[in-house]
Amino acid sequence: MSETLFTGISQLVTPRPGPQRGAAMRELNMTEDAALLVKDGVTHWVGPAAQAPTAAETVDLGGRAVVPGLVDPHTHAVWAGDRLADWEAKLSGATYEEILARGGGIRSTMRATAAAGVEELVALARPRLAALRASGATTTEVKSGYGLDFDAELRMLRAVRELQAEFELRPTLLIHVPPTEGRTAYVQGVCADLIPQVAREGLAEAVDVFTEKEAFSVEETRQIFAAARTHGLRVKLHADQFHAIGGTELACEVGALSVDHLEASTEAQIRALAASDTVATILPGVTLHLGLPAAPGRKLIDAGAIVAVGTDLNPGSSPVFSTQLALALAIRLCKLTPAEALTACTVNAAHALGLPDRGSLSAGQRADFLVLHSPDWRDLPYTLGASPVQDVFLAGVKL
Ligand code: NIG
Ligand code: FE
Repeated sequence: MSETLFTGISQLVTPRPGPQRGAAMRELNMTEDAALLVKDGVTHWVGPAAQAPTAAETVDLGGRAVVPGLVDPHTHAVWAGDRLADWEAKLSGATYEEILARGGGIRSTMRATAAAGVEELVALARPRLAALRASGATTTEVKSGYGLDFDAELRMLRAVRELQAEFELRPTLLIHVPPTEGRTAYVQGVCADLIPQVAREGLAEAVDVFTEKEAFSVEETRQIFAAARTHGLRVKLHADQFHAIGGTELACEVGALSVDHLEASTEAQIRALAASDTVATILPGVTLHLGLPAAPGRKLIDAGAIVAVGTDLNPGSSPVFSTQLALALAIRLCKLTPAEALTACTVNAAHALGLPDRGSLSAGQRADFLVLHSPDWRDLPYTLGASPVQDVFLAGVKL
């Protein structure tokens, strides 16, 4: 059995375990001059250093602030090619949807990704995941979705599986954009072939769908959700990014893990999310990069929703390689308070992945935590463009 007492913690700041909604998102526990006892990778005791139990080993963290490891609940970290030409087109006035409609955008990343083998995808994704982790992400979701055909989707998920040994990853099968011809057969194939195979091989834990005018309809999403359920996979959604066409309502109705984006959500979608256990995941990197309106983070929390924040790391809409930066941007762009943003990036993001065992530094939870450079935890939400994270601990072990 391993047992370590961490001391020299100026502030230990954490949300309570479990998903937090509405005003409870602001209620952090703060212990000054704290200690943290970890046994076998799990937090055993947290409290004032003066009352700390003894342990076999003691590590002095040198008077720094400690917070839970961040959970990034939404990334597309596996891709090949680049979107630099699209970005220039966008800067000259083309919209994201126009670029997609003329075969660029996601479709260009699909062509490049479909041409890459598993080892190449692994090599391309590794430094991106390392950057997210250095920024504080101790658990990271990674989606497929750039496979032009089913084999390419499976290669993406196999690449995620290969990276599992190095990173704490949660894989999702993303049904992203339909083929230009034969979409009915494509959706049938997703339901009858792709989802069953992914479930059989344990290649993903959840199925995500891009429900949008340029992508899948609500009815197609419903069919894909039904197949996911039949095969024991959870469901989640990209919805209300450009148009609120009913994806959010469907997700709440079927008890999806999360609905992500929400930039175009109106009062009706906010009400549906607030009345459900489905997490509202907002992605401020997209707002920054595409210049879209921000998701209504403030309104969602005030209405009582469970709000999470993710990077949406991807080459087209959010080249944000830092989960800490997503947290910091949610405050500036979506009007969360610093305390709400910490809750959104820890326990609520864990809930969006169906992981009740992490996100809070309290007894019984995984001991994933960050040691900041600063003695004041507020440097985590404050800092833009440099990393306030000094050390990342996964299950009590420094990486
Ligand atoms: O989350 N909106 C759809 N999918 C991604 C973008 C992917 C891409 O542009 O490559 C998103 O924003
Ligand atoms: Fe996304």
